[in-house]
Amino acid sequence: MTSKAPTAAAEIAALRTELNEHLYRYHVLDQPSILDALYDELYQRLVALEALHPKLISADSPTQRVGAKPLDAFAEVTHRVPMLSLSNAFSDDDIVAFDKRCRSQLAAEAGDNEIEYAGEPKFDGLAISLCYVDGVFVQGATRGDGTVGEDVTQNLKTVRSIPLKIDSSAALLEVRGEVLIERRDFEALNERQTNQGEKPFVNPRNAAAGSLRQLDSRLTALRPLSFFAYGLGATDGISLPHTHNEAMDMLVGLRFPVAAQREVVVGVTGLLDYYARIGKARATLPYDIDGVVYKVNRIAQQQQLGFVSRAPRFAIAHKFPAEEATTVVLGIDVQVGRTGAITPVARLKPVFVGGTTVSNATLHNQQEIDRKDVRIGDTVVIRRAGDVIPEVVAIVASKRQPGSEQYRIPPNCPVCGTLLERETREVKRGGEVFLDQLSTYYCTAGLVCAAQRKQAILHFAQRRAMSIDGMGDAIVDQLVESNLVKTPADLYKLTIAQLELLERMGLKSATKLVENIDRSKSTTLSRFIFALGIHHVGEEVAKVIARHYGDIRKIESQDWVAVSAEKDRIKKENIRRKKLGDPLLPELLHGIGSEIIKSLCAFFRIEQNKQVIDEIVSAGLVFQPEVVLASMRDKTFVLTGSLESISREEAKRQLEALGAKVAGSVSSKTNFVVVGENAGSKKTDAERLGVPMISETELLSMLRG
Ligand code: IVH
Repeated sequence: MTSKAPTAAAEIAALRTELNEHLYRYHVLDQPSILDALYDELYQRLVALEALHPKLISADSPTQRVGAKPLDAFAEVTHRVPMLSLSNAFSDDDIVAFDKRCRSQLAAEAGDNEIEYAGEPKFDGLAISLCYVDGVFVQGATRGDGTVGEDVTQNLKTVRSIPLKIDSSAALLEVRGEVLIERRDFEALNERQTNQGEKPFVNPRNAAAGSLRQLDSRLTALRPLSFFAYGLGATDGISLPHTHNEAMDMLVGLRFPVAAQREVVVGVTGLLDYYARIGKARATLPYDIDGVVYKVNRIAQQQQLGFVSRAPRFAIAHKFPAEEATTVVLGIDVQVGRTGAITPVARLKPVFVGGTTVSNATLHNQQEIDRKDVRIGDTVVIRRAGDVIPEVVAIVASKRQPGSEQYRIPPNCPVCGTLLERETREVKRGGEVFLDQLSTYYCTAGLVCAAQRKQAILHFAQRRAMSIDGMGDAIVDQLVESNLVKTPADLYKLTIAQLELLERMGLKSATKLVENIDRSKSTTLSRFIFALGIHHVGEEVAKVIARHYGDIRKIESQDWVAVSAEKDRIKKENIRRKKLGDPLLPELLHGIGSEIIKSLCAFFRIEQNKQVIDEIVSAGLVFQPEVVLASMRDKTFVLTGSLESISREEAKRQLEALGAKVAGSVSSKTNFVVVGENAGSKKTDAERLGVPMISETELLSMLRG
């Protein structure tokens, strides 16, 4: 036995290397170098040897790609570096503006020089992150909401072009990319589905999404998923490349599949030329793409450009024109949004366009309906662009049926019956203020309207807000319909006995839901503010408000008119100071403009809103320190004083690894000052400028995510 083991181990190792080489040639290089039958023979030999020597089975063996036992649910994964989205451009002008923005922001360093960009296809698949520790693939996750995704490691192991082991000295390497199904594989898959009497998939993207979210990875293993890398996430223990292109070359060296059409181009002409060439080649590519992506090539320049909200400023997606089709309007419904905004929606005879079947399209508002004169029974052209909601572009006048009537949005809310109001905006003309009527109608009933109540509750409970797992559409519908929940505060009064009576609920799920509701009480102030669903107050705005005031009572009782006046005063004063070359005053509530202040004012003026807040807070909310990993990326830290359990150098290294910047001095641009023992003038600076200060413990918990 002892004499045989080394030979078996050696043979197993040799078989693995050989099989992995064939997989790489077949799935990554698209240059098969062995007959299928021969591959199978080698593979079966490895299976047999591993069965005899189970201790020799390793996670990176090709035999581990067949899937594992089904899961009950996917675990959550918090991304070390958030997975962001891209801003979209639809015209050449948008791209000219993008290049201009980049150039003006980089002018100090780059002068008048053209910028170098990396151009890539925009894959129409699903974003994933692959995590390699000491060269071994240990975890793969979906994008999720960008901060938290789902652990789909077992499923990703079945993707033959994803290496299970890489030849890299990195202690940690995260590879970001897209999972998709290539066209020829999709056709074969659908043929198989039809032959087996199953429904064919609508498009490759849907098929890929369904396969990736299979709880039974043995089923995923039967789906022909492919992977293409397009960037790096967190890394540790390697020196980072200077350009995006070098990073991609590094990934190629590590045997990751990347787009064959990637290129480095220069200036706006280079970008537009690349777009035209890829557009022409689109139909001949092996996979669906919905545009191209441009990224500033130099990493130092990327860092200088930074991020805005959830997207980088250094990259943009240039979408291909939307796809169009004609169909018939069967009816027109009106939908009530979370804020009461009324959207007319055309119910269509289902039509296949841009890769999916479309049966609804937005008509935007009454003005647009009038402009296009869309009527029930009309034949219309509809357009679908990427994942944007399809829209009615125009009618086909020659096909109009006799006797059709102009369509008018009904005067009352279809859900609660309240008389709709038209949105207005103040405009100044010749020194006088006028109220302009805008094109959107609103149901102003707020939480009295069941449609708005449902959406307010769903918004409140969503993961990015209070994160109440299990509070989905079906439950919220029932809670609102049965009047058990009239405001978000009522969620905290729900009992197991009440929930148990709902449809599709049992004692177990009711208990779990009450636990989840209870757990949501531990939150952050910014999540809570975002959860309130104040018009125009998204996550970023909520964070700015939370950091500035730090206390819900202060926010509730704020005189927003005075805040607005103070902002104006600082703005004017800074214009004056700039002319004189004097130091500028720190901006108050950066990024919060008059529209946002107006809606904060309107929201907190309503007594019922304050009551709801009070009820929720007294249900036992506990506000945790504000910062989470996702918000580290573009933040600037200053460290001061001595830290006990971590050296300043190490703290700096870890912060930078998470995408944060560490500066030497405090300015109005600093996001956090970490205050250690015997902190000196930087602490005083932070106090003077109103920069949030955090303790060593808070820093450590942020680093741990
Ligand atoms: S880079 C920080 N490159 O587009 C930017 N994304 O809207 C990270 N996508 O969810 C993305 N092809 O899944 C990048 N060549 C490409 C891409 C690409 C497709 C997807 C990606 C992301 C979405 C962003």
